[in-house]
Amino acid sequence: MKILLHGAAGRMGQVARSVLEQGYDGAQLVAAVDMNAAEGSGVYRQLREYTGEADCLIDFSHHSATGAVYQYVVSRGLPCVIATTGQTQEELELLHQAARTVPVFISANMSMGIAMLAQFAKQAAALMPEADIEIVEVHHNRKVDAPSGTALLLADAIRQARPEAELVCGREGQGKRRKEEIGIHSLRMGNIVGVHEVHIGTDSQSIVLRHEAHDRALFAEGAVKAAAFLMGKPAGLYTMEDLFRK
Ligand SMILES: NC(=O)c1ccc[n+]([C@@H]2O[C@H](COP(=O)([O-])OP(=O)(O)OC[C@H]3O[C@@H](n4cnc5c(N)ncnc54)[C@H](O)[C@@H]3O)[C@@H](O)[C@H]2O)c1
Repeated sequence: MKILLHGAAGRMGQVARSVLEQGYDGAQLVAAVDMNAAEGSGVYRQLREYTGEADCLIDFSHHSATGAVYQYVVSRGLPCVIATTGQTQEELELLHQAARTVPVFISANMSMGIAMLAQFAKQAAALMPEADIEIVEVHHNRKVDAPSGTALLLADAIRQARPEAELVCGREGQGKRRKEEIGIHSLRMGNIVGVHEVHIGTDSQSIVLRHEAHDRALFAEGAVKAAAFLMGKPAGLYTMEDLFRK
C-alpha cells in the first residue's frame, strides 16, 4: 500500500514517516508533503506538486489545509485518512462532500484504546442517567487546538446516550453546574502526548475512565491501519466504529 503523507514535517508527520519507512503493516511511503518543508529535504511543499502513484493520503497537518486536501483527493479519486483535528463546520462539510466521491476515514484519535474509551463512556452515560460527566484532557504545551479533538469525540459519544447534553468548556462565569452539561477541561503542559479522562459522578460514587498515550507512534500506526481498511471500500465516510465492526 503506497502512502502519501501530508503534514510530514510536523511532530506527528515525522513519527508517521518513521513508522512508514520501517514498512509498518506492509505500507510504503511514496511521497511526503508539508508547506514548511526544508529546502532539499525531498519533501514537497504542496500536494498538487505530487502526481505519482499513491493508494491513500494520510493527513496529519492543520485544519486550514482541508480545502487543498479536498481538491487533491477528489481530483485524483484517492482514499484519505484525516487524522488532523480542529476543523471548522465548513471544513467538516468539505470532508463530507469528499466522502461522496472517495472513501474518507476521519478520527480525531487513531488509537483503538480511545475508540474503546468512547464506547465505555457512552455505556456509562446510558447506564447512569443521574451522573454528572466531565472530561479532562492533558496535552503538551505546543498543541494549537483546545479542547482536543479527542475530548470532542468523547463528548459526541456521550451525547449519543444523552442527546440533550450541552458542552461547557471551562467553568469561568458558568455559575452552578446544570444537569445537562458535559464539562470539558484542557490542561497544557510539558511534553505530554495525550491523556483523556472521563469522570462520571453521582452523589454516592464516582468512576474515572482514563486513557494515556505514551508514544505518538500509536496514532501513526492507527492511521496506517485505517488506510489499509479503506482499500477497496466504496466512497463514504468511515470512523473507528467501522474498524470495530470489521
Ligand atoms: N487523529 C490522531 O490520532 C491525532 C494524533 C495526534 C495529533 N493529531 C492531529 O494531527 C495534526 C498535526 O499534529 P502535530 O502535533 O504534528 O502538529 P504540528 O504543528 O507539529 O505539525 C503540523 C504540520 O502541518 C504543516 N501544515 C500546517 N498547515 C499546513 C497546510 N495548510 N498545508 C500543508 N501543511 C501544513 C506544518 O508545517 C507542520 O509541519 C493536529 O491537528 C493534531 O491535533 C491527530
